[in-house]
Amino acid sequence: MARFIIKNSPPLKGSVKISGSKNAVLPILAASLLAEGKCIIREVPCQSDVETMLKLLERLGADLQWDKDAGIIHTSASSRLRTEAEYELVSKMRASFLVMGPLLARLGEVNVPLPGGCAIGARPVDLHLKGFCALGAEVVQEHGNVSAKAKRLKGARIYLDFPSVGATENIMMAAVLADGVTVLENCAVEPEIVDLANFLNSAGAEVRGAGTDTIKIIGVKSISKADHSVIPDRIEAGTFMVAAGVTKGDITVTNVVADHLKPLIAKLKEVNLNVEETEAGLRVYYKEGRRLIATDVKTLPYPGFPTDMQAQFMSLLILAEGTSIVTETVFENRFMHVGEFKRMGADIKIESRSAIIEGVKKLMGAQVKATDLRAGAALALAALTASGTTELSDIYHIDRGYCNLAEKLSQLGAMIHREEDFSEKNC
Ligand code: UD1
Repeated sequence: MARFIIKNSPPLKGSVKISGSKNAVLPILAASLLAEGKCIIREVPCQSDVETMLKLLERLGADLQWDKDAGIIHTSASSRLRTEAEYELVSKMRASFLVMGPLLARLGEVNVPLPGGCAIGARPVDLHLKGFCALGAEVVQEHGNVSAKAKRLKGARIYLDFPSVGATENIMMAAVLADGVTVLENCAVEPEIVDLANFLNSAGAEVRGAGTDTIKIIGVKSISKADHSVIPDRIEAGTFMVAAGVTKGDITVTNVVADHLKPLIAKLKEVNLNVEETEAGLRVYYKEGRRLIATDVKTLPYPGFPTDMQAQFMSLLILAEGTSIVTETVFENRFMHVGEFKRMGADIKIESRSAIIEGVKKLMGAQVKATDLRAGAALALAALTASGTTELSDIYHIDRGYCNLAEKLSQLGAMIHREEDFSEKNC
């Protein structure tokens, strides 16, 4: 078990290059199972979720090469693929369920374990399955697995009850090889959906309207090969932008798409930070003599405030003057970090789906745990401004979705280092 040791740090200063998006590359890797030719995927972040997805694709029969330093993956799913995904890998990472749509479309049958719930909520897959049924698949759930069969899927008009990111991606991938036209309504509009559609189209698919709430997919017989660069990770960018505010620093994030960060930029300005678009990227800085002030935040599907930034933004609000209310509407249990922030001296009460935060002047270093990926990042940020030393454990959650977080923070002046196998050392 590794942990971060984090000390009270000076204001973070400098620039940091943002990696490719985790939530874009995972569905794109799943989509590579649809392609009969070789695919090149660039700007791949070095994260353990990517490793898990690659293991799964390999076990399903794909050939892969990952040049980690260059951030490039070569995939080939031209040989015989297996129809069954392993429980061990699907249970480790929910995004593994995204292989279902491509395998069903390509092989006509698939058997995938249900991914189950996770720390932040129940996270059902009913919308994914409703979509496969609408495309003509026979879907059966038994013994914790879901299997689906269809000689060839048939295009259909599908209305999603909620604009689920995963369901939009899974159904879109399945529909690529369907017979006829699929219209997906009330679908997710996240930038990662657009990136997936661009990947699919560059391989020969016909996906129209991604980024709007209605996507039209004109089925094709096959897709071949693609060479695609993944979009920058808006959540990693947001995490560093918040780090500038928490530490009263001055950080420029480079390799970002400012448009993807609009809801966060608006909120950073509301708490009294300066955000400027420069030639290099986005600069976030703290103006001397101004205090962070409270604001309210409600998480929503894109283009609303991202649930994946809720915990990190809270690390600012716990230090802001006044009362802030954070309402989580996307996941039912995404306040696990609150208990850990309180160990550091934050004043937060939870009432139903809202956290009511009274800003404090100072946080104290403590022993805290990363309860999930984004909660872990949020605690690391708070620890930078806390007095003394913070020991942040369970950082394997952070490794799932951040590429060298500690190294990147250190380069900006943070006092953070990683200890591997600390439990053994302590014995
Ligand atoms: C993706 C992101 C995750 C992000 C989330 C919301 C990836 C790999 N992960 O997760 O980081 O926090 O979007 O922006 O891209 N739901 C159902 N039935 C379904 C599917 C979803 O009820 O069939 C519910 C979920 O329980 C949740 C809400 O819809 O409450 C949003 O989930 P969804 O948009 O599907 O998120 P993911 O794709 O799992």
